[in-house]
Amino acid sequence: MLKLPGLIDPHVHLREPGATHKEDFDSGTSAALAGGFTTVLSMPNTKPPIFDKSTLALALDAAKRKAHCDYGQYIGAGPDNAETAASLSGTTAGLKMYLDSTFGELRLDDMSLWMPHFEKYPRNQPIVAHSESRTMAAAILFAAIYDRPIHIAHVSLKEEILIIKAAKERGIKVTCEVAPHHLFLHKGDLSGLTPGRGEVRPRLATKEDVDSLWANMDVIDCFATDHAPHTLAEKDSDNPPPGFPGLETALPLLLTAVSESRLTIPDLITKMHTNPRKIFNLPEQPETWVEVDENARYEIKASEQFTRCGWTPFEGWKVKGKVIRVVLRGVEAFKNGKNLVQPGFGRNVRG
Ligand code: DOR
Ligand code: ZN
Repeated sequence: MLKLPGLIDPHVHLREPGATHKEDFDSGTSAALAGGFTTVLSMPNTKPPIFDKSTLALALDAAKRKAHCDYGQYIGAGPDNAETAASLSGTTAGLKMYLDSTFGELRLDDMSLWMPHFEKYPRNQPIVAHSESRTMAAAILFAAIYDRPIHIAHVSLKEEILIIKAAKERGIKVTCEVAPHHLFLHKGDLSGLTPGRGEVRPRLATKEDVDSLWANMDVIDCFATDHAPHTLAEKDSDNPPPGFPGLETALPLLLTAVSESRLTIPDLITKMHTNPRKIFNLPEQPETWVEVDENARYEIKASEQFTRCGWTPFEGWKVKGKVIRVVLRGVEAFKNGKNLVQPGFGRNVRG
């Protein structure tokens, strides 16, 4: 039995408020525990988006009543909320900036709208940027100009990881995360999925991109699932929203990579616990750990998942490594496929 520290996922979409038919704090944090995560940081592209005090209260009230594991809530950067976002930083996980097109309404195209956020947001928390390719380079330039930390979400391209490496070497305060689907799937793998199911932002990349992420493993600070549940009916519709669920498949996929010597357990602990805790300035969770059967072999099945979305792009994949038990703050929270704590057990990491 392998014992891991409580894993932290700094990038999940729990869809509350506004789209609880896809997921909510109850189902999403149950999925988190089943996947070995004891802390999740929830994104603000909800309906309405989280961008001020009253919308933040909507998310935090729901989380307080429903969460099974610990959580934090991001606030979204809008065209005129830099002051507000900064003033709420004590109760939020961080500031999320959508600088490229994706799901939801939060998007800042004009770079002059980025400036007040970089000026005002407290430097003890990172700004998290959804930014791809050249937009990512612009975001890193902003971190350099304002001399403040930036965290690049879901890096997927070779050019991105190489620029981040170069920026780090020059002392720019940039960190980054990679999602398992960008490590385990490339464009060519989409043939097994219907077109809508293959939709995700950033898109799946080329094999060369995927290989370069593996080759630059030491540049990757965190693994983050970007758990983005949409129902099967939505994914198979004429206008499929982008996003893959990931909370319950990340650890098994990564443990399988460990069993194939593509990754090490210390890598996994650094990128799923130590680094996210440091980067997001998260409190210790005392008496918290995850017990894993490293040798359990099984097939991934959506029908066995807690997420409400009802599917996974990894259906039928054979993996090695299973979460058996999760202890959170001294309490047995998950065991043998069962969630053992009540909604409301989870705490706000900025509580
Ligand atoms: O594929 C994605 N889905 N990428 C994002 O950036 C947003 C997410 C969502 O919220 O569905
Ligand atoms: Zn996301």
